[in-house]
Amino acid sequence: MSKLWGGRFAKEAHDLLRQFNDSIDFDQRLWSEDIEGSMAWARGLVGVGVLTATEANTIVRGLEMVSAEWESGTFTIQPGDEDIHTANERRLIELIGDVGGKLHTGRSRNDQVATDFRLWTKRAVDQVQLELHQLQTALVDHAEQHMDVMLPGYTHLQHAQPVLWGHWLLAHFWPLERDQKRWDAVRDSADSCPLGSAALAGSAFPVNREALAARLGFSRITPNSLDAVSDRDFSADFLYAAAITGLHLSRLSEQLILFSSQEFGFVRLDDTFSTGSSIMPQKKNPDTLELTRGKSGRLVGLLVGLMTTLKGLPSTYDKDLQEDKEGVFNAFDTLTIVLPVMTGVINTLKLQPERMAAQLEPGLIATDMADYLVKKGLPFRQAHHIVGEIVQLSETSGVPITELSLTQLQAISLLFEPDVVEAFSIAGSLAARDVVGGTAPNAVREQIAFARQVLR
Ligand code: ARG
Repeated sequence: MSKLWGGRFAKEAHDLLRQFNDSIDFDQRLWSEDIEGSMAWARGLVGVGVLTATEANTIVRGLEMVSAEWESGTFTIQPGDEDIHTANERRLIELIGDVGGKLHTGRSRNDQVATDFRLWTKRAVDQVQLELHQLQTALVDHAEQHMDVMLPGYTHLQHAQPVLWGHWLLAHFWPLERDQKRWDAVRDSADSCPLGSAALAGSAFPVNREALAARLGFSRITPNSLDAVSDRDFSADFLYAAAITGLHLSRLSEQLILFSSQEFGFVRLDDTFSTGSSIMPQKKNPDTLELTRGKSGRLVGLLVGLMTTLKGLPSTYDKDLQEDKEGVFNAFDTLTIVLPVMTGVINTLKLQPERMAAQLEPGLIATDMADYLVKKGLPFRQAHHIVGEIVQLSETSGVPITELSLTQLQAISLLFEPDVVEAFSIAGSLAARDVVGGTAPNAVREQIAFARQVLR
């Protein structure tokens, strides 16, 4: 078979070289972007007199046939098809004859692959953002439905202060909203058209690059051909956004895994998103969440892998850059399964409010006791100390702080008065935190409304 670059070679490539060098196994995924880029290029070549309008039409029609073959699964990859660009061009020439050989005038696979991959990346970002949006919607729905359920809030995984479920769950919504912004930035990073840069120095046929870019739906063109063929910032940006999204999903997973354990029992995963054990009949395992947590490690690894590859390169195209695609494809495939799975988990998640309530012990409102004294005029530092003494008394006497008698309290501070009783309830503690972003029912309702607005 005749290779695209076979002219100067006296011998056929070694089988191992082929195996090692070929990227068709994975870059065939870019088949439609490659055809799209070629169609635009054919039109561009008319403008500079390389192709007549008739020739360009023949080429575009030929590319449509190639496209139809991919679509119907009848495209057959031949041994000499090194990569998707080679494969599509080979087939085009088979279908329409020598005129197909004019298509590669003034371009290189270097600007071609950069264009294809950018086109693919922009679409991939759209898909990820859609999946993210669905998960965000599931979180807001669940937060709204179960907004009033009370549970302990934790710091250091120790009981801290009571919070509402709606508040707790939305804490996992906002990171995803920041991810949406990051994905916007990834799309923008990919949104420059390198076509016309050719191998490195720019095309010798002065095609209208702006028109090419517009035809392909890019917002702008790359300003420097040397940079354009080696710029993979958009791929690193993609992997960074994927890694952070992965971290956010991992955190939510970890928390739900804990909450679904027998010790907590705050939530129950639906059977449809749980797995069993081959030996222990009673088991119901959160494999979906564990895999989500586990795969976040892979996402971080893919980012580090690509950055390490890029780090060693001089400017312009080097074959190392062929290593850009598999990681990005992998990250995309990972996210586009992890996200809908997480959406399913959230949509079917059951709460066990009584298990949460059982953990709402009086210690959670110790801060409110100190705040009570502050409202009676005591500096917070002293109030903190006094409540510390009360906690100590409660521990030594075995009486919860909320059940100590007024006399016992007054023995520690005379600022305690009969109104202390209503101040010290879980509901009172929640209601007190009526600051924007706080856990008071009012504030959480507003937060839910804000989240809905952001989603629209
Ligand atoms: N398959 C190659 C890649 O993915 C296409 C560009 C090849 N360019 C070259 N000069 N060999 O990077």
